[in-house]
Amino acid sequence: MPLKSRPRRLRRLNGLRRMARETRLSPAHLVAPFFVTHGRGVRRPIASMPGQDQVSVDELLNDAEEAFALGIPAVLLFGLPARKDAAGSEAWAAAGIIQKAARALKAKLPDLVVITDLCFCEYTSHGHCGVLKKGRVDNDATLKNIARTAVAQARAGADLIAPSGMMDGAVAVIRAALDRAGFKDTGILAYAAKYASVFYGPFRDAAGSAPQFGDRRSYQMDPPNAREALREIRTDVEEGADIVMVKPALAYLDVISAARQAVDVPIAAYNVSGEYAMVKAAERLGWIDGAQQSRAALEILTAIKRAGADLIITYHAVEAARRLRRDRS
Ligand code: PBG
Repeated sequence: MPLKSRPRRLRRLNGLRRMARETRLSPAHLVAPFFVTHGRGVRRPIASMPGQDQVSVDELLNDAEEAFALGIPAVLLFGLPARKDAAGSEAWAAAGIIQKAARALKAKLPDLVVITDLCFCEYTSHGHCGVLKKGRVDNDATLKNIARTAVAQARAGADLIAPSGMMDGAVAVIRAALDRAGFKDTGILAYAAKYASVFYGPFRDAAGSAPQFGDRRSYQMDPPNAREALREIRTDVEEGADIVMVKPALAYLDVISAARQAVDVPIAAYNVSGEYAMVKAAERLGWIDGAQQSRAALEILTAIKRAGADLIITYHAVEAARRLRRDRS
């Protein structure tokens, strides 16, 4: 039968499929997150994130070295403090956990890109992302702590500071503080469009950062809004962000795609803890492909890339990098 078009021709052989492939994923596109805790020899599995652990700095060094050897260029650090207080002051302490981790990583692996998450919810006794006034997170009081935390992280060797608290003006304040302190080459990866998402659930167990009352809807974005995401993203670029992020990723692929069109800086997407947990749970139940190095993860990461993300922060990073090294794509 004479047909005008037979798209199946280019699907016949693996070689043809590789030639026609539009989106390629490589370990270079991945960022591996880590949860770092005080102590030595500590490795505590996170129940809701199979394969992920809270680790002390000595263990982190091994994990990061493995990730780097697999071709993953960057890590994103979250800290579990020794003590919490109302302001979250361990966030900017010179001996704070993130500062310790960044110093150790840069000493051992100077070419590894160290990204430090900058937020206070892990460090505050109330679990909110800033200073409380009358039961609400006070934006401008929080900005002061954001500035000093950014400088402390840069001083410890962070290459990119990643503010994730969704405070207005954070990027401008960080840029000014870094420049004033002489860290003009330290960059900013802004969590520009971060939604108030249910998919952060496992992370809050992992980081001990669940709010003790209320929720984050007065500072994180309302999930139905896409135009507002572009406004957030453009604002952060104007304020000096070097990379902007959309978070979560899977339920927001339209936002990633629109962001890609709207600005020229690299776009990062955060494939968050709940997205990871859903895949792991379904694999464990045998409800989707249960292969050790998850094909489901690769399909998801490729889709996030196809939507327009240049970088993907993902708990699948190490297993995906292993699989990408093995398969030719
Ligand atoms: C801190 C922060 C959160 C995540 C990254 N930084 C949690 C939150 O906003 O409640 C979530 C990451 C994930 O779920 O993987 N503000």
